[in-house]
Amino acid sequence: MIIERPAAFVTPEFLIRLATESWEIGGAASLRHRTFVTEQGIFEGHDRDVTDRHALPLVAISTMASEADEVVGTVRIHEDTPGVWWGGRLAVAPAYRRVGRLGVELIRLAVGTAHARGCHTFLAHVQMQNVAMFESLEWQSVGETDLRGHPHMKMQANLAAYPSVTDPARGWMSLRRRAA
Ligand SMILES: CC(C)(COP(=O)(O)OP(=O)(O)OC[C@H]1O[C@@H](n2cnc3c(N)ncnc32)[C@H](O)[C@@H]1OP(=O)(O)O)[C@@H](O)C(=O)NCCC(=O)NCCS
Repeated sequence: MIIERPAAFVTPEFLIRLATESWEIGGAASLRHRTFVTEQGIFEGHDRDVTDRHALPLVAISTMASEADEVVGTVRIHEDTPGVWWGGRLAVAPAYRRVGRLGVELIRLAVGTAHARGCHTFLAHVQMQNVAMFESLEWQSVGETDLRGHPHMKMQANLAAYPSVTDPARGWMSLRRRAA
């Protein structure tokens, strides 16, 4: 069956939340594959690893007639050692980049969720082209490192800038940017 997405039904809201339903978890996995295997070629075959066994998948979901439609953004977070959390696999679908501030909202949910669970240090390996974006969101560079042949910057979030999110499964709604 072909599912049409008539423009008239596309609504400007995005849902930012912890993925709990299987279609959300599958949508996040699919978006990661499209981004890190197909688009960027950072991984060959698949980008799954042992961290996925315990990481929390967070998603941004587009809406159709104000109902959840498809996963268009994702990030995962996990606690590595007590109080030390990592974020990773941040991806927004190409058609939605710089459309709804989905990257920013996913980072806010990621760090806020960890903050509420006792995080005292939140880290990420950030691709070099995205360092400026993270700096503008109150992250500091810790040091450069090479991952799978690609240069990354290890960065740390300023937790004071990220209030705790106690109910990530509920999440929040975020709006498409207004046309300039
Ligand atoms: C990086 C990525 C997640 C950003 O998502 P996004 O939804 O487009 O980001 P946002 O719309 O929330 O942008 C937030 C701000 O950062 C800016 N920004 C976005 N990407 C940027 C970049 N690479 N460098 C500098 N600024 C950037 C935006 O212009 C915006 O600034 P503004 O509010 O002043 O307009 C997305 O481009 C992506 O998925 N890229 C491919 C995968 C990837 O690189 N993942 C990250 C691995 S570290």
